[in-house]
Amino acid sequence: MDGQISAYLKTHAERFLGELKDWLRIPTVSADPAFHADVLRGAEFLRSHFETLGMTSRLVETPGNPVVVAEWMGAPGAPTALVYGHYDVQPPDPLDLWTTPAFEPTVRDGKLFARGATDDKGQVFTHVKSVEAWLKTVGRLPINVRFVVEGEEEVGSENLEDFLRRHREELACDIAVVSDTSQYAPGIPAITYGLRGIFACEVTVFGPRKDLHSGVFGGSVANPAFGLARMLAKLHDEAGRIQVPGFYDDVLPLTTEEREQFAGLPFDETAYLSELGASAAVGEAGYSTLERRWARPTCEVNGLFSGYTGVGTKTIVPARATAKITCRLVANQDPKKLVEALERFLRANLPTGLTMEFHTDHGAPAFLFHPDSPYIEAAGTAIERAFGARPVLIREGGSIPVVTTFRQVLGVDTLLLGWGQNTDNLHSPDEHFSVADFQRGIHASAELWECLASVPRS
Ligand code: BES
Ligand code: MN
Repeated sequence: MDGQISAYLKTHAERFLGELKDWLRIPTVSADPAFHADVLRGAEFLRSHFETLGMTSRLVETPGNPVVVAEWMGAPGAPTALVYGHYDVQPPDPLDLWTTPAFEPTVRDGKLFARGATDDKGQVFTHVKSVEAWLKTVGRLPINVRFVVEGEEEVGSENLEDFLRRHREELACDIAVVSDTSQYAPGIPAITYGLRGIFACEVTVFGPRKDLHSGVFGGSVANPAFGLARMLAKLHDEAGRIQVPGFYDDVLPLTTEEREQFAGLPFDETAYLSELGASAAVGEAGYSTLERRWARPTCEVNGLFSGYTGVGTKTIVPARATAKITCRLVANQDPKKLVEALERFLRANLPTGLTMEFHTDHGAPAFLFHPDSPYIEAAGTAIERAFGARPVLIREGGSIPVVTTFRQVLGVDTLLLGWGQNTDNLHSPDEHFSVADFQRGIHASAELWECLASVPRS
């Protein structure tokens, strides 16, 4: 990479951080309609920013939040990379656990604290700034670059597939690049070749028509909170195996090589547990902690509520009880088929005297990329130049719904290049992004354009 590019990155490092802070001040929370105007402002901030770099950019409307599309297509014959990211963020709650407010970006101890700092505004911005560095110094990029930055990733990307289908031709590319994952650990950068899929649903169990006096009526009718608790308790056996019939039928097992490779990664389980404040490693018997997180399906209760949850006591039999459930899936599992299997299982275990309603929310299959791809090789070289270490190949447990859609609709694979750490508190209070990781990410991205240019087009 040209020396003037690294010089440009150094000279403008402070300004880059300041611009990211300006974007982070806009609370682009997609889950809560109260933030809708801010979501639109956050999209427009990025769109106009692209324009100042001399790129073509526009907002594309969807039935939900707009997609920011930008491109620089001045390298005819060279490959085209499509950078995907999201400008929406998770809700900041619980607010009282933030050391400084979620939407007042603050640098402490070399870390930038704000909701969205790492997930995903800070990581998307590394690619924006590397494109700027090329265009403002060399005047061109070694490849063509398109950006698709959406505003509904944190709520399941439900309008993105249709967007991609409608704009298929104009989004033609050779490879997708996504920085929305993590490094393996500080000092150990990673390329992620697998992500878990997901489906989300909600079950409500109904008992008596209204909350009842538990002294007058209790003992004579079914309590929906107990009923739901019994149903949920049946979801796993003692060995941590999910009991929904057929749940593991399609699971693509880990290969021996992968298990060996995971086992060879440095992993201090005691430190891991103490970082999380968990007292023991718990999960499916026969699998290591990394295997459980990266390559085994799970079923989790995300929220559970029933009856009186205020201060003091209230003597009632509640009328209803609800659980929010998500299952993480691995390669080959079909979210649609499994959400139906889960509903059947819950209905079959509904105790007498209760009824239930079941709602299906978003779903997305898992992602697995061939680790021998020349794109992975090229990205590895770029990362090594910027981070000073060859990246390790890992899978991760989170989900990015669109990556399988890229394969189906655009026919391309995705490079998952995460610059953050999984201890950056994503989705939690005090989310942050190390300023050094932000800078190394920009550097790696700048190297990437050159490394991708030399991958033969298929
Ligand atoms: N950036 C995360 C996904 C992620 C995090 C992947 C860490 C790998 C490592 C993403 O923004 C996210 O949280 N996605 C949601 C998707 C869901 C709402 C459909 C998730 O995984 O819960
Ligand atoms: Mn994200």
